[in-house]
Amino acid sequence: MLRNFHLYVEKDYDALSLRAAEIFADEVNKKPAGAFGFATGSTPIGMYKALIEMQKTRKANLTEITAFNLDEYYPIKKDDDQSYCYFMRQNLFDGIGLSADKTFIPRGDAPDPVAECTAYDEKIAAAGGIEMQILGLGANGHIGFNEPDSKLVATTYYVPLAESTIESNARFFASPEDVPRHALTMGLNSIMMAKRIILLVSGEGKASILKEVLGGPITTMVPGSLLQLHRDVTVVIDEAAGKLL
Ligand code: F6R
Repeated sequence: MLRNFHLYVEKDYDALSLRAAEIFADEVNKKPAGAFGFATGSTPIGMYKALIEMQKTRKANLTEITAFNLDEYYPIKKDDDQSYCYFMRQNLFDGIGLSADKTFIPRGDAPDPVAECTAYDEKIAAAGGIEMQILGLGANGHIGFNEPDSKLVATTYYVPLAESTIESNARFFASPEDVPRHALTMGLNSIMMAKRIILLVSGEGKASILKEVLGGPITTMVPGSLLQLHRDVTVVIDEAAGKLL
C-alpha cells in the first residue's frame, strides 16, 4: 500500500539520478527564483551531477534559485572537508555557479546553535517557503537528522546524533571518534511545509526501511513514515531499493 506517493522505479542508480534531476529541473523552470531544499549524503550526488550537466547544456537554469540545506554537523567549520557546506559547494553549488549569498545551510560554527536554528526557519519563511525539498533516507528511517525517537521536533533544532548514524557516517571520517556528536537539522514541520518533496532511495540496503516508510504505520520511530501525511511527495528509487514493495 503506497498511500499518496508518486512513485518512479528506475532500473539503476544512474537512471534514478537522471529522473530525479529532470523532475527537479522542471520544478525550477516553473519557479526560477524560488527557494529549493537540498540534501547531502551519497544518494543525491548523481542527481547533482546531472543537474550540473543540464545547466551546462541549458536544459535547466539554477542560477536564480535560493538554496536551503536540510542540515549540518555541529560543531564544524564551513571549510572543513566533512562539512555539508563544503559538500554542497563541491557537488553542486560551484558546478551550477550559484553564488554564496543564495545558499543557506545551518551554520555549524554559529556561536549559539539554538538561535541559529530559529534564524534558519525565519530565513526559509522570508524566502516564501520551499518549492521542492530533496530528501534522502537514512538506513534507520531518518530524514534530515530527525532520528527515530518517541517524539519528533517540528522546527529546525540542535540534535544529538543517534549512535547508528555516527557509525554509518564514520565512513567519511578518519575514525568514528571524529564524527561530530551533534547536528542542526530542519525539523519535521520545517520539512513538511515544503510545497513538494522528492525522496531519493537507492540500493538493496534501504529496501526494508523504504517499505516501512511508504506503507508501514506512521510512527516517530520511523521519521520518514511521516511523509505519508504530506500531500505531494514524489519518490524516485532504483529496482534494488524497491525489491520489497
Ligand atoms: C543529508 C541528510 C540525511 C541523508 C541520509 C541518507 O542531508 O539529511 O538524512 O539523506 O542519511 O544518506 P545517504 O544518501 O548517504 O544514504
